[in-house]
Amino acid sequence: VASLFELHVQRVQVQFEYPVAFTRGCLVPDNLALRDAVAAREPSRVHRLLVVIDGGLAAARPHIAPEVQAYLSAHAPVLALAAPPRVIAGGEGSKNDPAVLASLQSWLHEHGMDRHACVIAIGGGALLDVVGYAAATTHRGVRLVRLPTTVLAQDDSGVGVKNGINAFGKKNFLGTFAPPYAVVTDFDFLETLSPRDRRAGMAEAVKVALVRDASFFSFIEENAKALARGSAEELAQLVTTSARLHLRHIREGGDPFELGSARPLDFGHWSAHKLESLTDYRLRHGECVAIGMAHDTLYSAALGLCTRAEAERVISLLRELGFVLWDDALALRADGRGARKVIAGLAEFREHLGGELTVTLLGAIGRGVEAHEMRESVIEACIEELARRAVA
Ligand SMILES: NC(=O)c1ccc[n+]([C@@H]2O[C@H](COP(=O)([O-])OP(=O)(O)OC[C@H]3O[C@@H](n4cnc5c(N)ncnc54)[C@H](O)[C@@H]3O)[C@@H](O)[C@H]2O)c1
Ligand SMILES: [Zn+2]
Repeated sequence: VASLFELHVQRVQVQFEYPVAFTRGCLVPDNLALRDAVAAREPSRVHRLLVVIDGGLAAARPHIAPEVQAYLSAHAPVLALAAPPRVIAGGEGSKNDPAVLASLQSWLHEHGMDRHACVIAIGGGALLDVVGYAAATTHRGVRLVRLPTTVLAQDDSGVGVKNGINAFGKKNFLGTFAPPYAVVTDFDFLETLSPRDRRAGMAEAVKVALVRDASFFSFIEENAKALARGSAEELAQLVTTSARLHLRHIREGGDPFELGSARPLDFGHWSAHKLESLTDYRLRHGECVAIGMAHDTLYSAALGLCTRAEAERVISLLRELGFVLWDDALALRADGRGARKVIAGLAEFREHLGGELTVTLLGAIGRGVEAHEMRESVIEACIEELARRAVA
């Protein structure tokens, strides 16, 4: 039979490359990490820039805007600020309010930012997400240089390839995959961070250790007391190792833009994302991830995937770091006595990627395993166990 169509398979390969620098004092003019992040690939032309600064950071370090301006002036004319730095509120609020995104896009428009111009975003994971989304959708993508300033942004989100905002009550419902132009991680930013936010970001390091690297897990265990105190040296080591593991996953994991159905590093995240919205973002992302990991660790032990002893190690470490492994939002039920609301997170997690439900569970400390179903009765029992432990 003669074919009714002619088929041409179009195959395109695009290579991405972005430098990630680890440093201290990145705004001291002698430190070239930021200048190079913007200009090293085209050293002899003028780079037009806009800078967005996290309001929480600006409150804690009031001279940050003049510091940025002084740094850029010191590297003129290669670095050329198109307008004074703009401070916007940090935190999840800026991902929940679509007006923030619109005002950033209109600011980029007003200043004629083109695809060779560069937006520098300095802030926590939420600010980087919204500014990253604005940059990625302006002219279909202007350059973004990230300066992550929280533990979470430095050890996870800031080195990654995603951005996004929340919409329709769903976490990260709108967003793009857009690798940054460069990342400059400056550990000094962590000095002004609240103990709460410092701790929250450690959850992502524990997560990547649990699913990828047993020796990193042991490092966190051995240094838990210093980390809980916020000791700068150990914190910088934790951030660096976690960032490296996240980078390796993106580079070598085979699916940087998550086209398949699995998100192997998102251990503990199906319930975490749901808990964030169930608590109206009263809890931090990292705090929800800690609870989600505690749950999924107990679940893994209940199924015999990992041992009880391993599960106890995980829970003890999370506690030693200072995490509270319970929130009353876990007790919420539809209509007061139907299914627990948090369990809807499982369907939303599947819907986010599409395809078959794929959840990462714990095969052992240092090794994640994929599961394609979760039993509601076992989830229930593990939530009850978290409740009992919280009381004890
Ligand atoms: N894109 C991704 O791949 C990815 C991955 C993981 C998490 N995330 C997102 O990251 C967000 C969480 O990020 P987060 O934990 O950094 O919290 P956050 O961005 O909400 O910041 C926490 C608080 O710290 C303040 N702050 C930031 N830097 C500071 C500093 N140096 N000193 C003092 N205060 C400072 C902020 O203003 C905010 O009030 C969530 O929205 C989460 O969904 C994104
Ligand atoms: Zn996360």
